[in-house]
Amino acid sequence: MTWDIKKVLVTGGTGFIGAHIVDNLLGLGITVRLATRSMAKAEEFIAQRQKFADRIEPFQIEDFCSSSDQPNPFLEAVKGCDGIIHAASPLSYDVTNAEEELIKPAIRGVKIVLEAAITEPKIKRIVLTSSFASVMDVARGPGPGFTYTGEDWNPLTYEESAKADAVIAYRGSKKFAELEAWNFIKHNKPGFDLVTFCPPMTFGPVVHPVENVESLNLSNRILWDIYAGADPLPVSRVPVWVDVRDLALAHARSLITETVGGRRYVPSSPDKFSYALAAKIMKDSGLGETVTGTIPESDLNPLGYDLDWQSVTRDLGVNFHGFEECVVDSITQFKTIPRESK
Ligand SMILES: NC(=O)c1ccc[n+]([C@@H]2O[C@H](COP(=O)([O-])OP(=O)(O)OC[C@H]3O[C@@H](n4cnc5c(N)ncnc54)[C@H](OP(=O)(O)O)[C@@H]3O)[C@@H](O)[C@H]2O)c1
Repeated sequence: MTWDIKKVLVTGGTGFIGAHIVDNLLGLGITVRLATRSMAKAEEFIAQRQKFADRIEPFQIEDFCSSSDQPNPFLEAVKGCDGIIHAASPLSYDVTNAEEELIKPAIRGVKIVLEAAITEPKIKRIVLTSSFASVMDVARGPGPGFTYTGEDWNPLTYEESAKADAVIAYRGSKKFAELEAWNFIKHNKPGFDLVTFCPPMTFGPVVHPVENVESLNLSNRILWDIYAGADPLPVSRVPVWVDVRDLALAHARSLITETVGGRRYVPSSPDKFSYALAAKIMKDSGLGETVTGTIPESDLNPLGYDLDWQSVTRDLGVNFHGFEECVVDSITQFKTIPRESK
């Protein structure tokens, strides 16, 4: 059963995953209120999709790192919206104070979006882009033989993540931001419900403005670095991944599918991946003339734990791309992006 959703507030819509989500919503005939810290970025984004310009409403917000005594910009942004997709969250490992730059802003982003949402009675559902980082228990190891589901939570404490390096702090940022949302629903019992997605590494072609390959988002940048000759090849922290096109479709469908309220999904491709496999795919497809990294045979048949992608297919009708198609489509497109800044 689907809901009649006319207008949706999207945060992070100018980013890698968010832009695909926005395109899916526009394709469903929905108007998007695009929350961004940069109106220039929003204008560039709209210029890329002129035929939908009258259904994209740019809306200026502050960085989630801003002090908490600033007025909540989302109080205005939510007006007239039927739903929210909250995809914005700081995602960088280049930080000097991980608690201040990753954990606190991720939590604050969720908090101010939900506090505003409760003031707009039209809102039926919030969809939150969390991460497999909020699900994975590192102590479990790489598997195989175990399937993570939406019931699993990363056991990190706030204190552990706050004093750790940026990689672990990011995992904490996603866990505690997502928990903020579930706890808000539990304690405030608002008129809307919540769906969360906990995707692993996300790869795929980009549909947001990218000035040059250096400014590709973190996950795609790794694919590009392999193409550009990284040696040694990077080593993946997880064997699981998802294609951005499938992830975005799942977000859009979850917003309009009435019956999935309260679900926590771990979307992923059934294929496992390794960066060695990515390098081999690039070479075999004739795209990777610049791939020079040594490809260890032992990494070409990646094994590992599974994610319960079947729930996404069953509830939302999303079928997942394979790794080869994703790598070929991504590199084919990235090769058309300028190498250097103008
Ligand atoms: N890429 C992956 O492999 C992956 C995997 C799992 C989960 N995720 C999650 O998916 C979401 C989107 O990731 P992405 O890869 O699309 O990232 P992205 O390309 O960096 O986009 C994130 C967007 O969030 C907004 N944003 C970032 N930091 C912010 C801050 N401090 N305050 C306010 N807004 C901020 C930015 O929008 P403006 O500049 O327009 O304000 C940016 O375009 C994030 O929640 C991330 O944690 C990503």
